[in-house]
Amino acid sequence: MNLADLNKIARAMTATGKGLLAADESGGTIKKRFDAIGVESTEASRRDYREMMFRSTEAMSKFISGVILYDETIWQNAADGTPLVRLIEQAGAIPGIKVDEGTQALPGCPGELITSGLDKLAERLAKYYERGARFAKWRAVIDIGSGIPSMTAIHVNAHALARYAALCQAAQIVPIVEPEVLMDGDHDIDRCVEVTTRVLNKTFQELRVQRVALEGMVLKPNMAISGKKSKTQASVQEVAEKTVRMLKNCVPAAVPGIAFLSGGQSDADATAHLDAMNRMGGLPWPLTFSYGRALQAAPQQTWAGLAANVGAGQQAFTHRARMNSLASKGEWTTDLETEKAA
Ligand code: 13P
Repeated sequence: MNLADLNKIARAMTATGKGLLAADESGGTIKKRFDAIGVESTEASRRDYREMMFRSTEAMSKFISGVILYDETIWQNAADGTPLVRLIEQAGAIPGIKVDEGTQALPGCPGELITSGLDKLAERLAKYYERGARFAKWRAVIDIGSGIPSMTAIHVNAHALARYAALCQAAQIVPIVEPEVLMDGDHDIDRCVEVTTRVLNKTFQELRVQRVALEGMVLKPNMAISGKKSKTQASVQEVAEKTVRMLKNCVPAAVPGIAFLSGGQSDADATAHLDAMNRMGGLPWPLTFSYGRALQAAPQQTWAGLAANVGAGQQAFTHRARMNSLASKGEWTTDLETEKAA
């Protein structure tokens, strides 16, 4: 492992004013997104859609540091035969790859999940590196409900995250460590803080036990936020303050950067929350975005599967990327939302 190089990539992934595009929806998830806009999910339609974003030159060169790809996409070529990975590199962004293989029921823990994909991971990482991937992603899922999460679920998911991260670093790939506490329940923000704190503490304990170099990783956490079904929804300022406090308590300053998931927040909320945190200042790490839905909902709606809409779809994507870039510097304002993409 060359830690200096891993650290350099991790810092580039979270460089000032830039964040990650999570375009790594699995086959099932992208079908759900396409169903919502009335587009059939085929290998060609998935390629066309993602090519549209990767050819958004302004967004990709100014606001996006890297793209998380799904296995299918990393091997796909653009319509003109150029590998999609090369389009990303040509725009000055870094290609990355989702390497987990989704979740399965966790035996003995009803309602809880464990992420799979460790078998043969070393071999897969070597192939992805050869194709151009310089970082990877593994998502662990923790749900909040009555009697859950169990300590078992937290422990085994943290263990798998650390196993994955250690294998990535040995393959000279920066691991994005993503322990996602879902916002689907009816819990309040304080319960989210309590559970996320336990999850982050266990994750960093496992990372240490398994000798993962913190300087060579990026953390992708959820924010401290009220459950979607909670009657009390915390304000933007409360989300920002509780998230920053929680992260300061749990995440060592050696971590080069933190890039949030959006997790089902609206585009506007995901941007406003990130902005409010960065306005607080005095943070030991850069705080940026690694959004899937909060970057792609607008371009998906605008594109709607029609070649004639590609330009407008690119504008919609560029606008959201620019808004989140500003939020990562604490320079976003609501007025900017009504301005047309540059
Ligand atoms: P969302 O921002 O839509 O949560 O997606 C980010 C991601 O990569 C989830 O694993």
